[in-house]
Amino acid sequence: MGICWSIQIKSESALSIGYDSKTGEKNGNSNSSSKVSTGSQTQTPRSEGDILQSCNLKRFTYSELKSATRNFRPDSVLGQGGFGSVFKGWVDEHSLAPSKPGVGIVIAVKRLNQEGFQGHKEWLAEINYLGQLRHPNLVKLLGYCLEDDHRLLAYEFMPKGSMENHLFRRGSYFQPLSWRLRMKVALGAAKGLAFLHNAETMVIYRDFKTSNILLDSNFNAKLSDFGLARDGPTGDKSHVSTRVMGTYGYAAPEYLSTGHLTAKSDIYSFGVVLLEILSGKKAIDKNRPAGEQNLVEWAIPCLTNKRRIFRVLDPRLEGQYSLGRALKVANLALQCLYMEPKMRPSMDEVVSTLEELQDDEKRERRDPHAEPTTTNKARSCRQEAGPKMAAAYPRPSASLRA
Ligand SMILES: Nc1ncnc2c1ncn2[C@@H]1O[C@H](COP(=O)(O)OP(=O)(O)OP(=O)(O)O)[C@@H](O)[C@H]1O
Ligand SMILES: [Mg+2]
Repeated sequence: MGICWSIQIKSESALSIGYDSKTGEKNGNSNSSSKVSTGSQTQTPRSEGDILQSCNLKRFTYSELKSATRNFRPDSVLGQGGFGSVFKGWVDEHSLAPSKPGVGIVIAVKRLNQEGFQGHKEWLAEINYLGQLRHPNLVKLLGYCLEDDHRLLAYEFMPKGSMENHLFRRGSYFQPLSWRLRMKVALGAAKGLAFLHNAETMVIYRDFKTSNILLDSNFNAKLSDFGLARDGPTGDKSHVSTRVMGTYGYAAPEYLSTGHLTAKSDIYSFGVVLLEILSGKKAIDKNRPAGEQNLVEWAIPCLTNKRRIFRVLDPRLEGQYSLGRALKVANLALQCLYMEPKMRPSMDEVVSTLEELQDDEKRERRDPHAEPTTTNKARSCRQEAGPKMAAAYPRPSASLRA
């Protein structure tokens, strides 16, 4: 969730390829993505009473959620983020009353473990947006708890966890995601963002990243974490002026330097995620060699080149994609990452491009004379690229070691 770290961004001018190199570090852990935060608080437009009254969600007591998670047992932890820990629990399908493990439905309970106004504000923003918005590509919020100092949120359980885990975590449970599934997730997440941007009052998500893309049992992508979401500009306003928040490596350069938030900031973050999906590499990874630590900076010069593109593409995808389509996806990422926000496509355009590519692939799978995949070409280009190509995969971020 979008709890931010108190790192002040100095308004450095962004580098020409679209990222700000003045990155901070989360708890000194260079492997984690770092939250950004500047300036003063912004106002939540609706009152807390209005939001809680109109949200149509179940209000849980603390003891209900405690019981559903068996006293927040450590072995039921699904993950950990800036907001707090997420626990697996069980409730009755209809009444949502706590039940025994194996009875009813599984839920994910997020418990705020930080004190202070920011955590409460993000908890409320989550209820504000997910209490009103429903879409197949947004995670479903079932209810919340507000009792004394306790702030919790209860969601539908997403059995395949986060896209971040699937892309970057190693181990027998996390087999490399296939090209087809990666494209499916990219399209689903794009549809979620497009829905937000096209809502009656535009919603800017502001924290688009792989850990916030959750996956159901069929790898349908659902966006979670609306703690940083904001209503888009209204009337003749071109942007919303905000405190700069989000996650380093994903936040758009113009947003970092000015605090001016537009839907195009989300498009930039989508471009970063698309690059992560293509490459299997994290947006920022201090364990990579100098010059490769920032994925956007390193990858952009390779994206339009038929030979150098293989340096970027995840070697675990070899043989699963056609070069033509990989280049199209890479080109889409490139467009999303344009320094000039107006040049970036809209989310509707992103969705159409990904849909066309997916339709092409479906047709090709049915057609025995399909364009060959890239196994051989990829192999020769990789050899040409030399020993550096034996990519060192990043370790999972600290928040994943739960
Ligand atoms: N509804 C859910 N179903 C299953 N797992 C979930 C669910 N919600 C969260 N998780 C797991 O818990 C992890 C932590 O989620 P959380 O949103 O608190 O933090 P994050 O997104 O990883 O990091 P950050 O705080 O930087 O946004 C997720 O990465 C995911 O693995
Ligand atoms: Mg999250």
